[in-house]
Amino acid sequence: MNKIAALCKRRGFIYPGSEIYGGLGGTWDYGPLGTELKRNIKNEWWKDVVQLREDIVGVDGSIIMNPKVWAASGHIEAFVDPLVECKICHERLRADHIDQIEEHGKSHKEKPKWTEPRKFNLLVKAYLGILEGRQQEVYLRGEITQGVHVNFRSVVDSTRVKIPFGIAQIGKAFRNEITPGNFTFRSREFEQMEVQYYIRPETKEGEKRFEYWKKFWMDWYTGFGISKNKLRFRDHADGERAHYAKAATDIEYESPWGWSEFMGIHHRGDWDLSRHQEYSGQNMKYQDPETKEEYLPWDIESSAGVDRSLLFFLIDGYTEDKGRIFLKLHPKLAPYKVAVFPLLANKPKLTGLARRIYLDLKTDFMIAWDGRGNIGKRYASQDEIGTPFCVTVDFQSLEDDTVTLRDRDTTKQERVKINGLKKILREKI
Ligand code: GAP
Repeated sequence: MNKIAALCKRRGFIYPGSEIYGGLGGTWDYGPLGTELKRNIKNEWWKDVVQLREDIVGVDGSIIMNPKVWAASGHIEAFVDPLVECKICHERLRADHIDQIEEHGKSHKEKPKWTEPRKFNLLVKAYLGILEGRQQEVYLRGEITQGVHVNFRSVVDSTRVKIPFGIAQIGKAFRNEITPGNFTFRSREFEQMEVQYYIRPETKEGEKRFEYWKKFWMDWYTGFGISKNKLRFRDHADGERAHYAKAATDIEYESPWGWSEFMGIHHRGDWDLSRHQEYSGQNMKYQDPETKEEYLPWDIESSAGVDRSLLFFLIDGYTEDKGRIFLKLHPKLAPYKVAVFPLLANKPKLTGLARRIYLDLKTDFMIAWDGRGNIGKRYASQDEIGTPFCVTVDFQSLEDDTVTLRDRDTTKQERVKINGLKKILREKI
Protein backbone atom coordinates (compact mmCIF):
# COMPACT_ATOMS: atom_id res chain seq x y z
CA MET A 1 0.00 0.00 0.00
CA ASN A 2 2.82 2.42 0.87
CA LYS A 3 4.41 1.79 -2.51
CA ILE A 4 1.13 2.46 -4.30
CA ALA A 5 0.39 5.59 -2.28
CA ALA A 6 3.92 6.86 -3.02
CA LEU A 7 3.51 6.10 -6.73
CA CYS A 8 0.15 7.91 -6.75
CA LYS A 9 1.73 11.05 -5.28
CA ARG A 10 4.94 10.92 -7.30
CA ARG A 11 3.29 10.35 -10.68
CA GLY A 12 0.22 12.53 -10.21
CA PHE A 13 -2.60 10.06 -9.60
CA ILE A 14 -3.76 11.12 -6.12
CA TYR A 15 -2.64 13.86 -3.72
CA PRO A 16 -3.80 14.50 -0.13
CA GLY A 17 -6.61 17.10 -0.20
CA SER A 18 -5.57 20.74 0.58
CA GLU A 19 -2.04 19.51 1.15
CA ILE A 20 -0.36 22.91 1.33
CA TYR A 21 -2.52 23.68 4.39
CA GLY A 22 -1.67 20.43 6.12
CA GLY A 23 -4.48 18.47 4.46
CA LEU A 24 -8.06 17.80 5.56
CA GLY A 25 -8.90 14.37 6.97
CA GLY A 26 -10.72 12.07 4.57
CA THR A 27 -10.36 14.25 1.46
CA TRP A 28 -8.23 13.58 -1.61
CA ASP A 29 -7.45 15.35 -4.87
CA TYR A 30 -6.84 13.64 -8.18
CA GLY A 31 -3.83 14.72 -10.22
CA PRO A 32 -3.61 14.66 -14.04
CA LEU A 33 -3.25 10.87 -14.31
CA GLY A 34 -5.79 10.08 -11.59
CA THR A 35 -8.27 12.38 -13.29
CA GLU A 36 -7.88 10.50 -16.59
CA LEU A 37 -8.20 7.11 -14.89
CA LYS A 38 -11.29 8.23 -13.00
CA ARG A 39 -12.94 9.63 -16.14
CA ASN A 40 -12.18 6.40 -18.01
CA ILE A 41 -13.76 4.26 -15.26
CA LYS A 42 -16.87 6.43 -15.24
CA ASN A 43 -17.09 6.57 -19.05
CA GLU A 44 -16.77 2.78 -19.44
CA TRP A 45 -19.31 2.24 -16.68
CA TRP A 46 -21.75 4.68 -18.32
CA LYS A 47 -21.21 3.14 -21.73
CA ASP A 48 -21.99 -0.37 -20.51
CA VAL A 49 -24.88 0.65 -18.29
CA VAL A 50 -26.62 3.37 -20.30
CA GLN A 51 -25.28 3.73 -23.85
CA LEU A 52 -25.28 0.05 -24.81
CA ARG A 53 -28.59 -0.81 -23.14
CA GLU A 54 -32.17 0.03 -23.98
CA ASP A 55 -33.59 -0.33 -20.48
CA ILE A 56 -31.55 2.22 -18.51
CA VAL A 57 -31.52 6.03 -18.70
CA GLY A 58 -29.37 8.49 -16.78
CA VAL A 59 -29.98 11.47 -14.51
CA ASP A 60 -27.70 13.97 -12.80
CA GLY A 61 -29.29 15.24 -9.58
CA SER A 62 -28.33 18.00 -7.13
CA ILE A 63 -25.95 17.36 -4.28
CA ILE A 64 -28.05 19.54 -2.00
CA MET A 65 -31.66 18.42 -1.72
CA ASN A 66 -34.66 19.47 0.31
CA PRO A 67 -33.93 18.15 3.86
CA LYS A 68 -37.32 16.38 3.85
CA VAL A 69 -35.75 13.92 1.38
CA TRP A 70 -33.46 12.65 4.14
CA ALA A 71 -36.24 12.37 6.67
CA ALA A 72 -38.24 10.35 4.15
CA SER A 73 -35.32 8.13 3.15
CA GLY A 74 -34.67 7.28 6.80
CA HIS A 75 -31.15 8.70 6.79
CA ILE A 76 -31.75 11.28 9.52
CA GLU A 77 -32.88 8.55 11.84
CA ALA A 78 -30.93 5.51 10.76
CA PHE A 79 -27.80 6.54 8.83
CA VAL A 80 -25.66 6.04 11.92
CA ASP A 81 -22.48 4.29 13.01
CA PRO A 82 -21.70 3.28 16.60
CA LEU A 83 -19.09 5.67 18.05
CA VAL A 84 -16.97 5.15 21.17
CA GLU A 85 -14.49 7.55 22.76
CA CYS A 86 -11.27 6.64 24.58
CA LYS A 87 -11.53 8.08 28.11
CA ILE A 88 -7.75 8.68 28.25
CA CYS A 89 -7.04 10.60 25.03
CA HIS A 90 -10.58 11.23 23.71
CA GLU A 91 -9.85 9.60 20.35
CA ARG A 92 -13.11 8.54 18.69
CA LEU A 93 -13.40 5.25 16.87
CA ARG A 94 -16.11 3.06 15.41
CA ALA A 95 -17.20 0.53 18.01
CA ASP A 96 -17.54 -2.16 15.34
CA HIS A 97 -13.97 -1.68 14.03
CA ILE A 98 -12.49 -4.11 16.55
CA ASP A 99 -9.00 -4.17 14.99
CA GLN A 100 -8.68 -0.39 15.39
CA ILE A 101 -9.93 -0.53 18.97
CA GLU A 102 -7.32 -3.21 19.76
CA GLU A 103 -4.58 -1.24 17.97
CA HIS A 104 -5.49 1.86 19.94
CA GLY A 105 -5.16 -0.12 23.17
CA LYS A 106 -1.46 -0.55 22.43
CA SER A 107 -0.87 3.22 22.38
CA HIS A 108 -1.52 3.63 26.14
CA LYS A 109 0.35 2.15 29.10
CA GLU A 110 -2.87 1.31 30.91
CA LYS A 111 -5.81 -0.45 29.28
CA PRO A 112 -8.04 2.27 27.82
CA LYS A 113 -11.64 2.57 28.97
CA TRP A 114 -14.23 3.39 26.34
CA THR A 115 -17.48 5.30 26.59
CA GLU A 116 -20.68 3.39 25.85
CA PRO A 117 -21.31 3.26 22.06
CA ARG A 118 -23.57 6.07 20.87
CA LYS A 119 -25.21 6.53 17.51
CA PHE A 120 -23.33 8.99 15.30
CA ASN A 121 -25.15 10.32 12.21
CA LEU A 122 -23.01 10.35 9.07
CA LEU A 123 -24.90 13.04 7.15
CA VAL A 124 -22.80 16.17 6.54
CA LYS A 125 -24.65 19.39 7.38
CA ALA A 126 -24.41 22.64 5.42
CA TYR A 127 -26.20 25.99 5.63
CA LEU A 128 -28.01 27.67 2.74
CA GLY A 129 -29.21 31.25 2.48
CA ILE A 130 -27.93 34.79 2.92
CA LEU A 131 -29.52 35.95 6.18
CA GLU A 132 -27.35 35.27 9.23
CA GLY A 133 -29.34 33.25 11.78
CA ARG A 134 -32.05 32.43 9.23
CA GLN A 135 -30.13 30.08 7.06
CA GLN A 136 -31.66 26.76 6.19
CA GLU A 137 -29.92 23.69 7.52
CA VAL A 138 -29.42 21.22 4.67
CA TYR A 139 -27.39 18.05 4.09
CA LEU A 140 -24.85 17.17 1.46
CA ARG A 141 -26.26 13.95 0.02
CA GLY A 142 -25.13 10.89 1.95
CA GLU A 143 -25.88 8.62 -1.01
CA ILE A 144 -26.61 9.65 -4.59
CA THR A 145 -29.58 7.28 -4.65
CA GLN A 146 -32.22 9.71 -3.45
CA GLY A 147 -31.61 11.99 -6.45
CA VAL A 148 -32.92 9.11 -8.57
CA HIS A 149 -35.92 8.12 -6.45
CA VAL A 150 -37.25 11.69 -6.12
CA ASN A 151 -37.14 11.95 -9.94
CA PHE A 152 -38.81 8.58 -10.57
CA ARG A 153 -42.17 10.19 -11.43
CA SER A 154 -40.58 12.80 -13.73
CA VAL A 155 -38.53 10.19 -15.60
CA VAL A 156 -41.57 7.96 -16.14
CA ASP A 157 -43.65 10.92 -17.34
CA SER A 158 -40.99 12.47 -19.58
CA THR A 159 -39.51 9.39 -21.27
CA ARG A 160 -40.76 6.11 -22.72
CA VAL A 161 -39.32 3.83 -20.04
CA LYS A 162 -41.37 0.78 -19.11
CA ILE A 163 -40.91 -1.55 -16.15
CA PRO A 164 -38.45 -3.21 -15.85
CA PHE A 165 -36.13 -0.25 -16.34
CA GLY A 166 -33.25 1.42 -14.57
CA ILE A 167 -32.04 4.93 -13.80
CA ALA A 168 -28.30 5.41 -13.56
CA GLN A 169 -26.38 8.21 -11.91
CA ILE A 170 -22.77 9.07 -11.12
CA GLY A 171 -21.93 11.77 -8.62
CA LYS A 172 -20.46 12.93 -5.34
CA ALA A 173 -21.62 11.77 -1.93
CA PHE A 174 -20.48 12.96 1.49
CA ARG A 175 -20.26 11.16 4.82
CA ASN A 176 -18.94 12.22 8.19
CA GLU A 177 -17.00 8.97 8.50
CA ILE A 178 -15.74 8.44 12.05
CA THR A 179 -12.52 6.84 10.88
CA PRO A 180 -11.64 7.64 7.27
CA GLY A 181 -8.63 5.61 6.21
CA ASN A 182 -6.80 3.09 4.07
CA PHE A 183 -5.88 5.82 1.59
CA THR A 184 -9.00 6.74 -0.43
CA PHE A 185 -10.90 3.59 0.61
CA ARG A 186 -12.96 5.37 3.24
CA SER A 187 -13.16 9.10 2.54
CA ARG A 188 -15.54 11.83 3.65
CA GLU A 189 -16.12 13.04 0.10
CA PHE A 190 -16.31 10.40 -2.63
CA GLU A 191 -18.07 9.55 -5.85
CA GLN A 192 -20.63 6.82 -6.44
CA MET A 193 -21.95 5.16 -9.61
CA GLU A 194 -25.36 3.60 -9.17
CA VAL A 195 -28.23 1.97 -10.99
CA GLN A 196 -31.67 1.87 -9.43
CA TYR A 197 -33.43 -0.90 -11.36
CA TYR A 198 -37.22 -0.79 -10.99
CA ILE A 199 -39.15 -4.04 -11.27
CA ARG A 200 -42.57 -5.53 -10.64
CA PRO A 201 -43.06 -6.11 -6.89
CA GLU A 202 -42.89 -9.90 -7.03
CA THR A 203 -40.59 -12.11 -4.95
CA LYS A 204 -39.44 -14.31 -7.85
CA GLU A 205 -38.79 -11.27 -10.05
CA GLY A 206 -36.79 -9.67 -7.22
CA GLU A 207 -34.63 -12.78 -6.79
CA LYS A 208 -34.05 -13.09 -10.52
CA ARG A 209 -32.97 -9.48 -11.00
CA PHE A 210 -30.82 -9.52 -7.87
CA GLU A 211 -28.89 -12.53 -9.18
CA TYR A 212 -28.64 -10.91 -12.63
CA TRP A 213 -26.95 -7.76 -11.25
CA LYS A 214 -24.61 -9.74 -9.01
CA LYS A 215 -23.30 -11.63 -12.05
CA PHE A 216 -23.28 -8.51 -14.22
CA TRP A 217 -20.96 -6.65 -11.85
CA MET A 218 -18.67 -9.57 -11.14
CA ASP A 219 -18.24 -9.98 -14.91
CA TRP A 220 -17.77 -6.24 -15.35
CA TYR A 221 -14.91 -5.93 -12.87
CA THR A 222 -13.15 -9.11 -14.01
CA GLY A 223 -13.69 -8.00 -17.63
CA PHE A 224 -11.72 -4.87 -16.81
CA GLY A 225 -8.91 -6.96 -15.41
CA ILE A 226 -9.48 -7.34 -11.66
CA SER A 227 -8.14 -10.78 -10.62
CA LYS A 228 -11.02 -13.24 -10.24
CA ASN A 229 -9.45 -14.89 -7.18
CA LYS A 230 -9.38 -11.52 -5.39
CA LEU A 231 -13.12 -10.98 -5.66
CA ARG A 232 -15.94 -12.64 -3.76
CA PHE A 233 -19.59 -12.13 -2.88
CA ARG A 234 -20.58 -11.59 0.72
CA ASP A 235 -24.23 -11.63 1.75
CA HIS A 236 -25.16 -9.27 4.57
CA ALA A 237 -26.39 -11.02 7.68
CA ASP A 238 -29.67 -10.05 9.36
CA GLY A 239 -28.99 -7.02 11.55
CA GLU A 240 -26.11 -5.86 9.35
CA ARG A 241 -28.19 -4.60 6.46
CA ALA A 242 -28.84 -0.89 5.89
CA HIS A 243 -32.26 0.32 7.02
CA TYR A 244 -33.58 0.34 3.43
CA ALA A 245 -32.46 -3.15 2.35
CA LYS A 246 -34.50 -6.37 2.26
CA ALA A 247 -31.37 -8.21 1.05
CA ALA A 248 -27.82 -7.10 0.36
CA THR A 249 -24.71 -8.64 -1.14
CA ASP A 250 -21.33 -6.95 -1.33
CA ILE A 251 -18.67 -7.69 -3.88
CA GLU A 252 -15.49 -7.69 -1.85
CA TYR A 253 -11.86 -7.34 -2.92
CA GLU A 254 -8.95 -8.92 -1.07
CA SER A 255 -7.03 -5.72 -0.37
CA PRO A 256 -3.72 -5.38 1.49
CA TRP A 257 -5.75 -4.78 4.69
CA GLY A 258 -8.10 -7.75 4.14
CA TRP A 259 -11.39 -8.45 2.34
CA SER A 260 -13.13 -5.11 1.83
CA GLU A 261 -16.37 -3.90 0.28
CA PHE A 262 -15.96 -2.93 -3.35
CA MET A 263 -19.64 -2.36 -4.16
CA GLY A 264 -23.08 -3.41 -2.98
CA ILE A 265 -26.17 -4.88 -4.62
CA HIS A 266 -29.23 -4.06 -2.53
CA HIS A 267 -32.82 -5.19 -2.74
CA ARG A 268 -34.48 -1.97 -1.58
CA GLY A 269 -38.04 -3.21 -2.19
CA ASP A 270 -40.41 -0.23 -2.33
CA TRP A 271 -38.79 1.41 0.71
CA ASP A 272 -37.77 4.62 -1.08
CA LEU A 273 -40.77 5.19 -3.34
CA SER A 274 -43.29 4.41 -0.59
CA ARG A 275 -41.52 6.73 1.87
CA HIS A 276 -41.32 9.56 -0.68
CA GLN A 277 -44.99 9.02 -1.51
CA GLU A 278 -45.83 9.25 2.18
CA TYR A 279 -43.62 12.26 2.99
CA SER A 280 -44.26 14.31 -0.18
CA GLY A 281 -47.92 13.43 -0.65
CA GLN A 282 -47.19 12.80 -4.36
CA ASN A 283 -48.28 9.67 -6.17
CA MET A 284 -45.16 7.62 -6.87
CA LYS A 285 -47.03 4.61 -8.31
CA TYR A 286 -46.27 3.24 -11.75
CA GLN A 287 -49.15 2.46 -14.07
CA ASP A 288 -48.69 -0.47 -16.41
CA PRO A 289 -49.47 0.96 -19.88
CA GLU A 290 -51.20 -2.25 -21.05
CA THR A 291 -53.05 -3.60 -18.00
CA LYS A 292 -53.48 -0.17 -16.30
CA GLU A 293 -52.53 -1.90 -13.06
CA GLU A 294 -50.91 0.51 -10.56
CA TYR A 295 -48.19 -0.41 -8.13
CA LEU A 296 -45.08 0.84 -6.33
CA PRO A 297 -42.17 -0.88 -8.08
CA TRP A 298 -39.37 -2.55 -6.21
CA ASP A 299 -35.81 -1.36 -6.66
CA ILE A 300 -32.74 -3.56 -7.13
CA GLU A 301 -29.83 -1.21 -6.56
CA SER A 302 -26.22 -1.51 -7.73
CA SER A 303 -23.99 0.91 -5.87
CA ALA A 304 -20.25 1.24 -6.45
CA GLY A 305 -17.68 3.75 -5.31
CA VAL A 306 -15.74 5.39 -8.14
CA ASP A 307 -12.77 6.14 -5.86
CA ARG A 308 -12.84 2.66 -4.38
CA SER A 309 -12.97 1.09 -7.85
CA LEU A 310 -10.03 3.26 -8.91
CA LEU A 311 -8.05 2.27 -5.82
CA PHE A 312 -8.68 -1.44 -6.39
CA PHE A 313 -7.80 -1.14 -10.10
CA LEU A 314 -4.49 0.42 -8.99
CA ILE A 315 -3.80 -2.14 -6.28
CA ASP A 316 -4.70 -5.08 -8.50
CA GLY A 317 -2.75 -3.71 -11.46
CA TYR A 318 0.43 -2.94 -9.51
CA THR A 319 2.97 -5.54 -10.63
CA GLU A 320 6.63 -6.07 -9.75
CA ASP A 321 8.35 -8.53 -12.05
CA LYS A 322 12.12 -9.11 -12.17
CA GLY A 323 12.87 -5.58 -11.04
CA ARG A 324 10.32 -4.10 -13.44
CA ILE A 325 7.35 -2.17 -12.01
CA PHE A 326 4.25 -1.81 -14.14
CA LEU A 327 0.60 -0.98 -13.68
CA LYS A 328 -1.42 -3.62 -15.48
CA LEU A 329 -4.42 -1.40 -16.19
CA HIS A 330 -6.94 -2.39 -18.86
CA PRO A 331 -6.12 -0.32 -21.99
CA LYS A 332 -9.57 1.26 -21.87
CA LEU A 333 -8.89 2.51 -18.34
CA ALA A 334 -5.22 3.48 -18.64
CA PRO A 335 -4.68 7.28 -18.40
CA TYR A 336 -2.55 7.33 -21.54
CA LYS A 337 -3.17 4.74 -24.23
CA VAL A 338 0.07 5.27 -26.10
CA ALA A 339 3.37 7.06 -25.55
CA VAL A 340 5.32 8.27 -28.58
CA PHE A 341 9.04 9.02 -28.58
CA PRO A 342 11.92 9.60 -30.96
CA LEU A 343 14.76 7.14 -30.29
CA LEU A 344 17.12 10.10 -29.87
CA ALA A 345 15.78 13.49 -28.90
CA ASN A 346 18.60 15.47 -30.50
CA LYS A 347 17.96 14.28 -34.07
CA PRO A 348 15.51 16.75 -35.67
CA LYS A 349 14.37 14.30 -38.36
CA LEU A 350 13.43 11.65 -35.77
CA THR A 351 11.77 14.21 -33.51
CA GLY A 352 9.89 15.77 -36.43
CA LEU A 353 8.41 12.45 -37.55
CA ALA A 354 7.63 11.40 -33.97
CA ARG A 355 5.82 14.73 -33.36
CA ARG A 356 3.73 14.23 -36.51
CA ILE A 357 2.72 10.73 -35.37
CA TYR A 358 2.02 12.01 -31.84
CA LEU A 359 -0.21 14.85 -33.08
CA ASP A 360 -2.06 12.54 -35.46
CA LEU A 361 -2.77 9.90 -32.78
CA LYS A 362 -3.75 12.60 -30.28
CA THR A 363 -6.96 13.29 -32.18
CA ASP A 364 -8.15 9.75 -31.32
CA PHE A 365 -6.45 8.77 -28.04
CA MET A 366 -4.89 10.24 -24.88
CA ILE A 367 -1.24 10.21 -25.88
CA ALA A 368 1.94 10.87 -23.92
CA TRP A 369 5.07 12.43 -25.39
CA ASP A 370 8.45 11.83 -23.82
CA GLY A 371 11.73 13.10 -25.22
CA ARG A 372 13.79 12.90 -22.04
CA GLY A 373 16.48 10.40 -20.98
CA ASN A 374 17.18 7.15 -22.74
CA ILE A 375 14.65 4.78 -24.22
CA GLY A 376 14.88 2.30 -21.32
CA LYS A 377 14.01 4.99 -18.80
CA ARG A 378 11.10 6.16 -20.92
CA TYR A 379 9.67 2.62 -21.12
CA ALA A 380 10.06 2.24 -17.35
CA SER A 381 8.36 5.58 -16.78
CA GLN A 382 5.37 4.62 -18.98
CA ASP A 383 5.16 1.14 -17.44
CA GLU A 384 4.82 2.66 -14.01
CA ILE A 385 1.78 4.72 -15.01
CA GLY A 386 0.17 1.87 -16.94
CA THR A 387 0.57 3.09 -20.55
CA PRO A 388 -0.22 -0.08 -22.53
CA PHE A 389 1.67 0.82 -25.73
CA CYS A 390 4.82 2.74 -26.65
CA VAL A 391 5.68 3.84 -30.19
CA THR A 392 9.33 4.56 -30.95
CA VAL A 393 10.53 6.36 -34.06
CA ASP A 394 14.05 5.24 -35.02
CA PHE A 395 16.36 5.59 -38.01
CA GLN A 396 14.66 2.74 -39.86
CA SER A 397 11.40 4.72 -39.59
CA LEU A 398 12.90 7.42 -41.83
CA GLU A 399 13.59 4.81 -44.49
CA ASP A 400 10.59 2.48 -44.51
CA ASP A 401 7.77 4.36 -42.70
CA THR A 402 7.60 1.84 -39.85
CA VAL A 403 7.87 2.28 -36.07
CA THR A 404 8.24 -0.12 -33.16
CA LEU A 405 5.13 -0.80 -31.10
CA ARG A 406 5.91 -2.10 -27.60
CA ASP A 407 3.46 -3.94 -25.37
CA ARG A 408 3.59 -2.99 -21.66
CA ASP A 409 2.75 -6.44 -20.27
CA THR A 410 4.97 -8.62 -22.46
CA THR A 411 7.58 -5.91 -23.33
CA LYS A 412 7.51 -7.46 -26.84
CA GLN A 413 8.07 -5.09 -29.75
CA GLU A 414 6.75 -5.40 -33.29
CA ARG A 415 7.46 -3.26 -36.34
CA VAL A 416 4.34 -1.76 -37.83
CA LYS A 417 3.58 0.60 -40.70
CA ILE A 418 2.93 4.17 -39.59
CA ASN A 419 -0.17 4.42 -41.75
CA GLY A 420 -1.63 1.28 -40.14
CA LEU A 421 -0.90 2.39 -36.55
CA LYS A 422 -4.28 3.93 -35.75
CA LYS A 423 -6.15 0.85 -36.94
CA ILE A 424 -3.94 -1.48 -34.91
CA LEU A 425 -4.35 0.65 -31.79
CA ARG A 426 -8.12 0.89 -32.22
CA GLU A 427 -8.27 -2.92 -32.30
CA LYS A 428 -6.08 -3.28 -29.22
CA ILE A 429 -7.71 -0.61 -27.04
N1 GAP B 1 -26.95 3.78 -2.16
C1 GAP B 1 -26.43 2.72 -1.39
C2 GAP B 1 -25.17 3.04 -0.76
O1 GAP B 1 -24.73 4.17 -0.74
P1 GAP B 1 -23.21 1.96 0.56
O2 GAP B 1 -22.88 0.51 0.76
O3 GAP B 1 -23.31 2.82 1.75
O4 GAP B 1 -24.58 1.95 -0.23
C3 GAP B 1 -22.05 2.07 -1.75
O5 GAP B 1 -22.18 2.58 -0.47
C4 GAP B 1 -20.62 2.13 -2.22
O6 GAP B 1 -20.11 3.48 -2.10
C5 GAP B 1 -19.66 1.29 -1.39
O7 GAP B 1 -19.66 -0.07 -1.80
C6 GAP B 1 -18.33 1.96 -1.68
O8 GAP B 1 -17.82 1.52 -2.93
C7 GAP B 1 -18.74 3.42 -1.79
N2 GAP B 1 -18.49 4.09 -0.51
C8 GAP B 1 -19.30 4.12 0.56
N3 GAP B 1 -18.76 4.84 1.56
C9 GAP B 1 -17.58 5.29 1.10
C10 GAP B 1 -16.54 6.10 1.66
N4 GAP B 1 -16.65 6.62 2.87
N5 GAP B 1 -15.45 6.36 0.91
C11 GAP B 1 -15.34 5.85 -0.35
N6 GAP B 1 -16.29 5.09 -0.93
C12 GAP B 1 -17.40 4.81 -0.21
